[in-house]
Amino acid sequence: MDVLRRRSLLTAGLAGAGAALAGCSPARPERRAAGFAPDDWDSVRAQFPLDPDLVHLAAFVLAAHPKPVRDAIDGHRAGLDADPEHYVQEHHQAEDEVRQAAATYLVTEPANIALTDSTTMGLGLLYSGLNLSAGQEILTTEHDFYATTEALRLASERTGATVRRVRLYDDPATANETEIVDRLRAAIGPRTRVVAVTWVHSGTGVRLPIPAIGEAVAEANAGRPAADRALLCVDGVHGFGAVDTDIGDLRCDFLSTGTHKWLFGPRGTGLLWGRQWDALAPIIPTFSGDGSPGATFTPGGYHSFEHRWAVREAFEFHAAIGRDRIAARITEQATQLKEGLAGIDGVRVVTPASADLSAGIVCCDLSTMDAPTAVARLRAEHRIAASVTPYAELYLRFGPSIVTTPAQIDETIAAVGKLA
Ligand SMILES: Cc1ncc(COP(=O)(O)O)c(C=O)c1O
Repeated sequence: MDVLRRRSLLTAGLAGAGAALAGCSPARPERRAAGFAPDDWDSVRAQFPLDPDLVHLAAFVLAAHPKPVRDAIDGHRAGLDADPEHYVQEHHQAEDEVRQAAATYLVTEPANIALTDSTTMGLGLLYSGLNLSAGQEILTTEHDFYATTEALRLASERTGATVRRVRLYDDPATANETEIVDRLRAAIGPRTRVVAVTWVHSGTGVRLPIPAIGEAVAEANAGRPAADRALLCVDGVHGFGAVDTDIGDLRCDFLSTGTHKWLFGPRGTGLLWGRQWDALAPIIPTFSGDGSPGATFTPGGYHSFEHRWAVREAFEFHAAIGRDRIAARITEQATQLKEGLAGIDGVRVVTPASADLSAGIVCCDLSTMDAPTAVARLRAEHRIAASVTPYAELYLRFGPSIVTTPAQIDETIAAVGKLA
């Protein structure tokens, strides 16, 4: 039984009557803002408090909260401010509801979902919790974000397992699935216990073919005893909420993501999904606990519950619009942007043109100026919010999403044309 729920039962003098009490907790009805029309993209955009004078092509970096999420946060915050201890006891089921909403989105079981504060926290729990030893190897790539690289370095220092990096493509723009999978397959060795990759590279916009990589890992595992099998572990943050797929179809073993980027969930929230939990030991004591792995791996302590519990509304908002429609909207604008940028002299599009090898992130290079200058000028002269890739190669980076429009993409192409 989870710590918060047990305390609730004791407080109410109902220890042992968990099922009855759970049955008394009214399921929260789905909240939909009055006047919100999920089929209408203008109505979707109107749910966000984003500055209307800006074109928000960096909104994926850290989410703004749409109205149903803001309302849920405000409601929980008011309750917590008024009577914190009691409000927490009264809402002991809220975390289960978040895990159920996440499971519905991923098409999986809540038992396989641990709630975290960020992608980074999930990666830390994952790579610190894996039972690795000297003589084993972690295979990773040259394209991952700092959070993966650093979590693996720490795991290696503690366990003695070595880290090896493979380059999956030389030029992101011409990357192709066969080459990526072949390079990774060739790098998996008999001592490889972890394959650590990133679904969508935030430095180039390349989307890895995770299902095909999963197949290559499965081939390498054939005939190996369970304790020696390689686990495919994914930083999924820039595919989650942007790509229309069930988690089972990715064929990975673990996926860590924030829910505060493309999903537009509460800032400071995320999840770790897994299907090989016995390979992992928990690091932080949980306060949750129906005994399932997802609960056991959910770090305990009291949280900023107004944010954590409002993740449910973020999933409901996404579901009301449609996972497939959102992915299609992102693809449509990203393709439009890549095609428009490719037609400008002095602009080199870094992200693959293929929608199968990219998601929402679009990176490019200008011959006339560096990326930080381009970002500053786009903001100052064109009211366009873009970002710079946080890697050694500084590219100009855009992220079309449900808060941008095709007309704004045309504006952006014209603005970049003026800088190039
Ligand atoms: C690939 C990738 N992983 C992880 C992160 C960090 O995500 P979080 O804030 O959810 O830890 C980022 C950027 O913020 C990223 O680009």
